[in-house]
Amino acid sequence: MNTKNIISIETSCDDTSIAIISNGKVIDMCTLTSAQIQNTYGGVVPEVAAREHEKNIIPAFNTILKNHKLDLHDLDAVAYTACPGLRVSLNVGEAFATTLAKYLNKPLIKVNHIYGHIFSFLYDYDLKDLQYPFLSLIASGGHTSIFKVNSPTDIEVLNETQDDAVGEVFDKIARSLSLGYPGGPAIDKLYDPNKATITFLKNKHSYSDDKFSFSGYKTQVLNYINQQNMKSLSLDIPTICSSFQAEIVGMLTNKIKYYMDTLNIHNISIGGGVAANSLLQQEIKKLNAQNTYIPKTKMLCGDNAAMIAIYANLIYFNM
Ligand code: KG4
Ligand code: ZN
Repeated sequence: MNTKNIISIETSCDDTSIAIISNGKVIDMCTLTSAQIQNTYGGVVPEVAAREHEKNIIPAFNTILKNHKLDLHDLDAVAYTACPGLRVSLNVGEAFATTLAKYLNKPLIKVNHIYGHIFSFLYDYDLKDLQYPFLSLIASGGHTSIFKVNSPTDIEVLNETQDDAVGEVFDKIARSLSLGYPGGPAIDKLYDPNKATITFLKNKHSYSDDKFSFSGYKTQVLNYINQQNMKSLSLDIPTICSSFQAEIVGMLTNKIKYYMDTLNIHNISIGGGVAANSLLQQEIKKLNAQNTYIPKTKMLCGDNAAMIAIYANLIYFNM
């Protein structure tokens, strides 16, 4: 059998990532992140991210070439993240992918980053076990949406945030508690169910088709932190983080539950950086769907080129 190979490039935010998929299996990936550098700025600065992509893209490509056993001319196509993302960062990946495809005289596949996140769990699952339609919650630093996925090319938006993305809220709360960037993993590490004792959330409206909205909630948590500081009261950081995480995860899972019930869809999935959250994974499993698709490999929740390769392979080779 002829091998079917696609190389993929992902540069939408602060990770420079290149992967190769061969006959439907991701065989290699190299990701170089600028998160430590972004940490010194307290968040992602687009120009800094783009400069790091320019520095890292050739080393990442060379690492992949060194590791895998394919000749460049065995590649059937070049895929890359075309949108959405930081424009200056996307441009670096686009220039690289376009040049490579031209040089090799191979097709160029433009991939929507969000569609990559939606199908990222396939890294650990067999495509033949996948059942449509499924509900997909994508929660990251830039997006919070729920989709109804009928097929790889028929994807309906059911809900999306009107303001902040949920990862952004994790990052801002963590920053106000001096926990560094990205904030999600730091808050997650401090989570203790016995310490989720503060109620920040006044109205629990998430079981409805109301659009996600996190900015008012974020302000309530930040106000609480500022007031404690102003009164020179000590901050009980694990209690704040545990309470916040419990409430925000509740908002996400209640919304998914609403769509499961009203649309009678019992296959669900999660993706995006926040999908790595331990409590979110736990609560999503508790919804007892017929099929629950969660990226088993944590690295597949965040930005990575493997998911871009997986989606490109689905639409190009249907495998
Ligand atoms: O998908 P991603 O890597 O990049 C974007 O496309 O935005 O998501 C990054 C976001 C950050 O906001 C980060 O704090 C959050 O995902 N994140 C988490 C966890 N790990 C990463 N949020 C909550 N819990 C985690 N364990
Ligand atoms: Zn992402």
